[in-house]
Amino acid sequence: MSSLERVQRALEDAGQRHVLRFWPELSEQERDSFLQELKQLDVKGLKNHCEGAARAVAAPDPRRDPNIEPVPAEILGSVTRSSRETLTGWEREGLVQISEGRVGVLLLAGGQGTRLGVHYPKGMYDVGLPSGKTLYQIQAERIHRVQELADSQQSSKCSIPWYIMTSEFTLAPTEKFFKENDYFGLEQSNIVMFEQRMIPTVTFDGKVILQDKGKIAMAPDGNGGLYQALVDNKVLEDMKERGVEYLHVYCVDNILVKMADPVFIGFCLSKGADCGAKVVEKASPSESVGMVCRVGGICQVVEYSEIPPETAELRRPGGELVYSAGNICNHFFTRSFLQDVAQNFNSQLKQHVAIKKVPFVDSCGNQVKPTKPNGIKMEKFVFDVFPFSKNFVVLEVLREDEFSPLKNADRAAKDSPWTARKSLLAQHCRWASCAGAALLDQHGNMLPTTSSGSEAVGSPVQFEISPLISYFGEGLEQLLKGRKLKVPFILDSDRARELQAQEHISDDVSAV
Ligand code: UD1
Repeated sequence: MSSLERVQRALEDAGQRHVLRFWPELSEQERDSFLQELKQLDVKGLKNHCEGAARAVAAPDPRRDPNIEPVPAEILGSVTRSSRETLTGWEREGLVQISEGRVGVLLLAGGQGTRLGVHYPKGMYDVGLPSGKTLYQIQAERIHRVQELADSQQSSKCSIPWYIMTSEFTLAPTEKFFKENDYFGLEQSNIVMFEQRMIPTVTFDGKVILQDKGKIAMAPDGNGGLYQALVDNKVLEDMKERGVEYLHVYCVDNILVKMADPVFIGFCLSKGADCGAKVVEKASPSESVGMVCRVGGICQVVEYSEIPPETAELRRPGGELVYSAGNICNHFFTRSFLQDVAQNFNSQLKQHVAIKKVPFVDSCGNQVKPTKPNGIKMEKFVFDVFPFSKNFVVLEVLREDEFSPLKNADRAAKDSPWTARKSLLAQHCRWASCAGAALLDQHGNMLPTTSSGSEAVGSPVQFEISPLISYFGEGLEQLLKGRKLKVPFILDSDRARELQAQEHISDDVSAV
């Protein structure tokens, strides 16, 4: 039997005969590439996948177990409720682990960034900072700086491997972007990019969607595709070879993300955790963040799309939300936990249904851009492994310090390039103020540095600190104490050298 006949038979068995409907119209070349694609499909799993998707969408909303509770206090740490001494202890421990090469970071970057509306990977987005840095560059520089901090504490020369999960959509442009930018000064060998799997999108009646006459409409399998991708791409072996025991996993769009956060690593280790999550207090019941909670006694995340509003809105007598632990997609895993998931639990991960508008070719071969949802994407979620943890912990951090995601295009009021830019610059103004600097406008008037970004005037104070100079506000006093700085001002390595070289603090250091 030829490969085509084999594929034909498998598709028929799966009830997907229509996939080859346009075969006679395809050129030789198109046939070759389509056949290659079809051969790579898990045709045995296809029947289950399509039927499962159609069943899931037809089923009524899954009723959540009423036995839902907030995260218990004994597994919940908090940066605001911990003493300076405790925080310093966690941080020191985190830096020791980093300096000994036991910490890696893993970026989830396989998403399509549909809401932001760009046709390139989100990490390449320039949010409009004075420096023009993209999210990828900011992240790379934070890795650089935290390595330096660990080295200076421990007199070591360490490196933090940066694993980057991409998808068919994001791998090539991400690779190209990193290469063109000379890996942002990091060692190329410490950046490991790999691809997650893609799966077919399906109509509401369980038929694979054709995006073209010779192409199936595929979509990444959700950020929980991570666990399969770790196996497919031998990432766990790579971690083992490098001696990486702890992984900080994060999503691409949070401009304030603390890569390899030593405080978080130290906190998780101090609790003997195999798995952990950072949360912030939810801003409102309807905020689009998952909720870390316990369901039926087991810690997990209930995604924002799956939280019943009446649960999200519950309040304590004092007015605070009962379910306030908002997931910021910052997770800690030990390598052995990931190994355990890969071996024993990956196949048990829940499938979530996402209803999307999927462009397709109709039965006459016309390209259609649907105006209303027509397709199902089945997705796994990265946090669905929490229930398999033996010791799960949660660290609550401050939103203004650690969470400002870029989800939407600029016209949106929330989670847009503007809000991301504002959060970062506001943080840098606060750091400058703590370090003893005053910021001045072009007329020499003092600017406020403690608000969350000059909301009243609508544009944030243009004062930016390169992550290469400061990871989280440290080391600024020696540069900035007693200075008056005119904005716009970018504190980068050159500027830091200039400031260091000045013997006397001048009254007025001017703009960029
Ligand atoms: C995610 C969290 C949500 C949290 C919010 C905080 C999940 C499933 N949901 O929601 O609980 O409150 O972030 O900002 O984690 N990605 C892949 N492959 C995919 C799909 C996504 O790598 O197939 C990556 C994206 O590139 C991104 C991250 O996963 O870095 C999060 O994906 P996104 O779709 O933005 O999740 P949210 O719905 O915002």
